[in-house]
Amino acid sequence: MNTMTDPKIEAIKPKSDIPRHVAVIMDGNGRWAKSRGLPRFAGHKAGVDSVRKVVSECAKKGVEVLTLFAFSSENWKRPEKEVGSLMELFLTALRQEVKKLHRNNVRLKIIGGRHAFSEKLQKSMRLAEEQTADNTGLTLVIAANYGGRWDIVEAVKKLAQEVKDGQLEPEQINEQMISDSVALAELPEPDLFIRTSGEQRISNFLLWQLAYTELFFSDRYWPDFDEDALQEAFNAYAGRERRYGLTGEQIGTAAGA
Ligand code: IPE
Ligand code: IPE
Ligand code: MG
Repeated sequence: MNTMTDPKIEAIKPKSDIPRHVAVIMDGNGRWAKSRGLPRFAGHKAGVDSVRKVVSECAKKGVEVLTLFAFSSENWKRPEKEVGSLMELFLTALRQEVKKLHRNNVRLKIIGGRHAFSEKLQKSMRLAEEQTADNTGLTLVIAANYGGRWDIVEAVKKLAQEVKDGQLEPEQINEQMISDSVALAELPEPDLFIRTSGEQRISNFLLWQLAYTELFFSDRYWPDFDEDALQEAFNAYAGRERRYGLTGEQIGTAAGA
């Protein structure tokens, strides 16, 4: 079959070795600290250094979007002291890093239910987004008080409202409308998902958006995740064949030949 003229196949974008969008569950801060006899907070603090490294490495490699899971909607259930120290850390990290992000042409975007955060933190989030809004380099998305189920519920509420207002018939609802209503709708879908610390689960991260994302699990704790570890994930990604339900022959790759 001539793969060049089949519209089903042409719809599949050619895969480059560098993912356009990388989504990361930064896990293992607590265990990293514990293994060193330190309080959990020390792990979260050390995790900020890994964020810096990964952001700059992704920008250098030409990644377009990097989404980092910083705080899940379930993380509020952690001990009050840990939640409090994480909030402090977000605030200082935001205040300290924004200038540097801006200098490096990074556009910052925050997803998740932000009304749960303090006024101070919400203001810093807003300012950081406004200040970097016109940057054209890497888009850095921070998922804070984010949950994949929450995201889908918000999308459903929006569509339900349109039905109620008479702008939409229930039968017209399709996958594209949901894709257009969840977080990150305006960005390419994640190509590569990385979770650190050896855990192999999604933990309510981007449920809808990860439908066809390549998954990579690293045994390193997040504070130990560095440029080499990122390269390892990219190498694994480069060796994957993305088929989207088609056969290897249709895609016309070595695996299908
Ligand atoms: C990830 O590290 C950071 C957050 C969830 C905020 P953890 O704090 O989950 O570290 P472990 O999994 O307990 O080691
Ligand atoms: C997922 O990690 C959330 C973030 C990294 C922000 P968790 O450590 O909270 O996930 P579980 O509890 O192990 O599934
Ligand atoms: Mg964890």
